[in-house]
Amino acid sequence: MNVIAVYSSKGGVGKTAAAVNLSYAASMRGKNTLLCDMDPQGAAGYYYRVRPKKKFNKKQFLKGNLENNIRQSDYPHLDLLPAHFSFRNLDLALEKGKSEELKGIFSNLADEYDVLIIDCPPNISLLSQNIIIAADQVVTPVIPTTLSIRALAQLIKFFEKIGVKRKKLRAFFSMVERRKNMHADTVRNYRKKKVFLRTLVPYLSDVEKMGITREPVAVTCPGSPAAIAYDRLWMEIWKRRIRD
Ligand SMILES: Nc1ncnc2c1ncn2[C@@H]1O[C@H](COP(=O)(O)OP(=O)(O)O)[C@@H](O)[C@H]1O
Ligand SMILES: [Mg+2]
Repeated sequence: MNVIAVYSSKGGVGKTAAAVNLSYAASMRGKNTLLCDMDPQGAAGYYYRVRPKKKFNKKQFLKGNLENNIRQSDYPHLDLLPAHFSFRNLDLALEKGKSEELKGIFSNLADEYDVLIIDCPPNISLLSQNIIIAADQVVTPVIPTTLSIRALAQLIKFFEKIGVKRKKLRAFFSMVERRKNMHADTVRNYRKKKVFLRTLVPYLSDVEKMGITREPVAVTCPGSPAAIAYDRLWMEIWKRRIRD
């Protein structure tokens, strides 16, 4: 099972949009996919119209009781583990000094799925550290502005600090508006860096509309450049997966 965490310390950069649309792209391309929503706000589950089971909460999650709490989506090959509001305290519940707890929990699912995509909450915490360690690839959306590039540099430092190899980090430009000079310049200057994937995700209202349609963009607007971008992004991520 390939574990892909969509992570950034920043909120509102397109993590959930990416996790939702990448998981759809992976499933459409025949991979048995599980989208795990680790953000207590539960937006990924909202987009897929899936709620957590009544008895599911942080305790169940930490016990590794995942299989009974996984729900099917409306699409073939795609399941969801919705977040519960109690996940907001997951950080405190994780044991200090143990950064591989989550890796162990997810490994129970290894036989069931080809791909696990994790939608992460925006912070730098013990939970994020656990997720980064559990992931084979950490995919981070970067809005092409100086501040976001700074956040990427901080993330690279964080990887060093917790002893995680930089080669599992993949950045991509998110919410790109080419008409804005700063966006165009930043993309031009950084796109060729090794850490960046080639695909750019454009800023398009088709993505925002997901809040109303509650479907992946490729379902509502199949020909949309956004749908095409997420599919390409998925192909790139899959191609650059780190094999065991
Ligand atoms: N490519 C995009 N184009 C336009 N709007 C986007 C795009 N990606 C995300 N958004 C919108 O921006 C907001 C934040 O995106 P979201 O994916 O929830 O970010 P995060 O999960 O990083 O907090 C949402 O309202 C979402 O619809
Ligand atoms: Mg989110």
